[in-house]
Amino acid sequence: MKVEVVAGQFDDLDYEGFRKQAVENGLSRFERIGFPDSYRDGHEAAIFADIRAKLPALDGNGAVVLDIGAGCSDLPNMLITHCVSHGHRLALADSMEMLALLPDGEGVEKFAGRFPESADKIGAALGRADVILCYSVIQYTLADGILERFVDAALKLLADGGSMLIGDVPNVSMRKRFFASPAGRHFHRVFSGGNDIPVAGIGESEEGKVNDRVVLELLARARAAGAHAFVVPQADGLPMANRREDILIKRP
Ligand SMILES: C[S@@+](CC[C@H](N)C(=O)[O-])C[C@H]1O[C@@H](n2cnc3c(N)ncnc32)[C@H](O)[C@@H]1O
Repeated sequence: MKVEVVAGQFDDLDYEGFRKQAVENGLSRFERIGFPDSYRDGHEAAIFADIRAKLPALDGNGAVVLDIGAGCSDLPNMLITHCVSHGHRLALADSMEMLALLPDGEGVEKFAGRFPESADKIGAALGRADVILCYSVIQYTLADGILERFVDAALKLLADGGSMLIGDVPNVSMRKRFFASPAGRHFHRVFSGGNDIPVAGIGESEEGKVNDRVVLELLARARAAGAHAFVVPQADGLPMANRREDILIKRP
């Protein structure tokens, strides 16, 4: 039975909240990972293409790939199929409940438990990874109070020459800039079908949210740990490209 999704239902999720949603009756595979269907349904092939463009080692062969916070929608399924066909070794990290919704495959290993607590287990099994993907996850580690530990542990698992994409970062400062602009007002009118002006929230507190300061501190943190780090835009046309951005980290 399909249950009605209440506005704001997905706003305050943390690791435990996702664990519960993984087994809740009546949610779609997109709702289980915190998105209304319209944000992901039909868009995940384009999202995966953008991820591959930013992590070109995925299109090679025989790499060690780690997806932290894999979720259960079409995106990790695309990654699994892709990695199996390219002879990569793929490690998926998420809760046991979420991982149970994903298929197994040749060279695919599942690491149940919250990251970074699962990091030692992953490192012992894999060594270091050539590619790390962490898509639409970092905001929840902030809510859990583990952002810095999470990023430090992921950086330790990244091999020399490897790349890590911390993707789909909902930067509230970027969102405010967008909705205060003519393009943002136009977008809001088309989206709402009305003529009202969006509430950009300029001047409102950004406490507890990912904002410019958090993004830039992450870059500084990765750089101080010996990696190059860049903020990169999402491909035009992705559902949240106007208010989300990606962080690309490369170990020299
Ligand atoms: C919004 S979903 C994104 C799923 C997938 N990466 C995608 O973009 O389709 C966030 C996922 O991260 C997982 N997650 C959140 N915090 C985590 C943590 N500390 N360690 C491992 N997984 C985590 C959740 O269980 C959930 O599956």
